[in-house]
Amino acid sequence: MSFQINTFEAYQAAYDKSVSDPEAFWGEIAEHFFWKRKWTNVLNWNFKEPDIRWFEGAKLNITENCLDRHIYQNGDKPAIIWEPNDPQEAHRVLTYKQLLAKVEQFAHVLKNNNVKKGDRVCIYLPMVPELAIATLACARIGAIHSVVFGGFSATSIADRINDAECKLVITSDGGFRGNKVLELKNIVDDALVQCKSVERVIVLTRSRTPVSMIKGRDVWWEDEISKVETQGNLACPAEEMDSEDPLFILYTSGSTGTPKGVVHSTAGYMVYTGYTFSNVFQYQPDEVYFCTADIGWITGHSYIVYGPLSQGATSVMFEGIPTFPDAGRFWDIVAKHKVNILYTAPTAIRSLMAFGDEYLENKDLSSIRKLGSVGEPINEEAWNWFSEKIGGGEAPITDTWWQTENGGILIAPLAGVSPTIPGYAMLPLPGVQPCLMDENGKEIVENDVTGNLCIKFPWPGMLRTTWGDHERCKKTYFSTYEDMYFTGDGCYRNKDGYYRITGRVDDVLNVSGHRIGTAEVENAINMHSDVVESAIVGYPHSVKGQGIYAYVIANHHGNEDETKQNILQTVTRLIGAIAKPDVIQFVDDLPKTRSGKIMRRILRKIAEGDTDNFGDTSTLLDPSIVEKIVAGAKEQK
Ligand code: PRX
Repeated sequence: MSFQINTFEAYQAAYDKSVSDPEAFWGEIAEHFFWKRKWTNVLNWNFKEPDIRWFEGAKLNITENCLDRHIYQNGDKPAIIWEPNDPQEAHRVLTYKQLLAKVEQFAHVLKNNNVKKGDRVCIYLPMVPELAIATLACARIGAIHSVVFGGFSATSIADRINDAECKLVITSDGGFRGNKVLELKNIVDDALVQCKSVERVIVLTRSRTPVSMIKGRDVWWEDEISKVETQGNLACPAEEMDSEDPLFILYTSGSTGTPKGVVHSTAGYMVYTGYTFSNVFQYQPDEVYFCTADIGWITGHSYIVYGPLSQGATSVMFEGIPTFPDAGRFWDIVAKHKVNILYTAPTAIRSLMAFGDEYLENKDLSSIRKLGSVGEPINEEAWNWFSEKIGGGEAPITDTWWQTENGGILIAPLAGVSPTIPGYAMLPLPGVQPCLMDENGKEIVENDVTGNLCIKFPWPGMLRTTWGDHERCKKTYFSTYEDMYFTGDGCYRNKDGYYRITGRVDDVLNVSGHRIGTAEVENAINMHSDVVESAIVGYPHSVKGQGIYAYVIANHHGNEDETKQNILQTVTRLIGAIAKPDVIQFVDDLPKTRSGKIMRRILRKIAEGDTDNFGDTSTLLDPSIVEKIVAGAKEQK
């Protein structure tokens, strides 16, 4: 018996049960997993503290659910098919049996290097199978992983390592992305100058980029594996974990301050990612599934590693980028590995669409059965292109809305089961109780309305805290509305009750599906010695979804172009290239209220080119500033 729902009526029945008796509903779903000891209580919660506990009293290890339990019947089934950046290089296949063996081996490496249950391990690797192996090996021994996306800078890594007080870092000499080589180990070396907690760095060989190995601190992955092989005992029993023990920390940007370490716990996250993977994608045992995300983001954690593996799926993991060696690469991968389910991001779809349909010529996409989208609102044009050109007009699209904090998909059609409308995430999954709130903090119960999206009731995959600062978790997510989790997203519910996410209502940008805090970018720009003050806003961008528009007050030493280049370098150095502004406009002043607050609403309108009506500007200290900025903005374009 599976927990997969295959009809819309069954979805409705499951949904109703999940609301009327959530504990019975999730208790039954959890029976489909392997427990060392069952729970005594399904759910204990309050959103005030918040204090959320799922499957209390249970003991388990998530890797036994992702690996060991598949070995008996499906040991030789491919778990991961790895496609390298360079199509000339051979791809690799790891069966469930092989993946388990590698995870156990590397778990021994971690133990040999003094990593214990509860210790934090930072993983900064390219998209190679060893990234999945390292992640699972941490979970095997109960160490808490903190994966940092390979595009982040040394300063960003250092901040994350220090916040979580990581003991060990796993990286590689370098990584390939398109025709670029990322010098990961060198970046880690720069980061570690500022990190006292790190005792050991394990370095995987990937790109043969020259690196310096620091004596007593740095060791090679391959040497450590050889040591384990000579030790002889290769099996590594899975550590017994409590249901609420933290599984991982993943840093994400908010509207204020530095990125927060979102903490996910073991049992609830496992149940939720497994259940949603199976249902949203309607995964069938013979299918090949390809999620194009990076494991450095939540989509990769939940829908490359834990969700698909707990369901015994075959996943394609891709090292490179959609446009290398050309814009037909995704379609080559689909044809080569006969991909049945493709889960990608609107920004990739829009960018490939812009390259033109010639990259689709002679590509065999006949294996595609289901399509998924994640990360940002998908515009109708991109939805239709994806459906027609990639799905042959037949494959259903599931537009999945969720967030790092959610652990797994919250609102989405079940592929081929639920109705779809382009641009709509449609209906909540069983167990998810969304609601729309008005500006006075009241729930809007009617349909055909827009409001701030909140969730009223806990679901097993939700965050439990933010690392080292529970108050911040409470303040960010549980204080805006009483007894609700506030998502930060705006949402429209149409007359039939279907949900369409309209985008963030706070100062968080979504650039190419990457979440970027405006305050973070401003802080980085302000570090530049010529900068007096800056303000960042988002504006519509045809490929990235949102672009970054920076208004900067600067004292130029040299010409404006030089200052611009220096500012871009500063942002790349402090955050990473993903946070580089698309437009920098130098201004004499910023529009502020009498109390000194920047009126971002006006700056947003100027960036969007919508300068006819700024609304109420009576609180502006000096309205003439706006005219000057508008005149300057015209010169930018
Ligand atoms: O604004 C929403 C947008 O991405 C934000 C979450 O970003 P992150 O934590 O990085 O997770 C992205 C991948 C799960 C949300 O607050 N978002 C995500 N998916 C969608 C979306 N917006 C519209 N439609 C979606 N399907």
